Amino acid sequence: MRLRRLGPSLVIDTPAKLNLHLDVLGRRPDGYHDLETVMVSVDLFDTLTITSAEDTVELTCTGDATGQIPTDDRNLVMRAANLLKQASGYRRGAAIHLCKRIPIEAGMGGGSSDAAAALVGLNRVWNLGLGLRDLHVLAAQLGSDVNFFVEAAPLAICRGRGEQVEPCVLRAPLWFVASKPRQGLSTTAVFKELALGEMGGRSSANLLSAAACGNVHGVGRSLRNALEGPSRRLSGAVHQTLTGLAVQNLPGIAMTGSGSVCFGLCQNRRHATAVAARLRSVLPGKAYILRTAT
Ligand code: C5P
Repeated sequence: MRLRRLGPSLVIDTPAKLNLHLDVLGRRPDGYHDLETVMVSVDLFDTLTITSAEDTVELTCTGDATGQIPTDDRNLVMRAANLLKQASGYRRGAAIHLCKRIPIEAGMGGGSSDAAAALVGLNRVWNLGLGLRDLHVLAAQLGSDVNFFVEAAPLAICRGRGEQVEPCVLRAPLWFVASKPRQGLSTTAVFKELALGEMGGRSSANLLSAAACGNVHGVGRSLRNALEGPSRRLSGAVHQTLTGLAVQNLPGIAMTGSGSVCFGLCQNRRHATAVAARLRSVLPGKAYILRTAT
């Protein structure tokens, strides 16, 4: 997450994420699932511009998917602002502009990233003086991935619902090519489709040690997402995208989050650029070249 002042406003670039490992450990009584997931921040950013205002919080939105994103209290940015006001007793307002670049229903954490930026940004603009710990408590109430973005680590392992974040060592940047099918996927629907037999499984230890020593092929071999099965069953486009990536001879491929974006790990920028060009000619939808964000 990058913050800068621009006149009376605070401008925040907040990143997307990719899940390099996602294991579902079991169903919980509260309807959620216990997870073990390893995530990286990548250099595809939404931008929030926050300006202090008299008494109401207002959100405007431009960029990709405008019209599909509500700007009222259904938006996680508005929910973050309301939660912060409630928790701190602060009464003034803010004008927030959101420029959307992270695709929606993609598994790239766009809404969660925006919510985290709103928490961090409004805490600064309103001079609330909340610490990282306080922000984590609020983040966990907004969604399972919000804490990862509040922590702002390049690589982290997340447990519980996803809200318990432990930063990990990433020795060298990683390059990816990501393909977004035209059709998105609902996280709730994918978790509902998950069968008992698809839960539990592999440890992320090999992945984390490969990331810590800059071993790209070690990382590639360890990519895993337990939600791939249910997402493939719900969406022919996910199946088609993973099949399209599988023939590119990459160090590793996987789906991110609950999809529908799927990605391949590449050797370097040049490799990612070449693969993205090939994907654009064989797969519908959008292809992104991504690097881990610091
Ligand atoms: O927490 P978040 O709002 O991102 O979750 C969206 C939906 O995904 C939840 O309502 C739930 O159906 C599912 N989910 C889950 N277990 C998790 C995270 C999400 O079942 N750990």
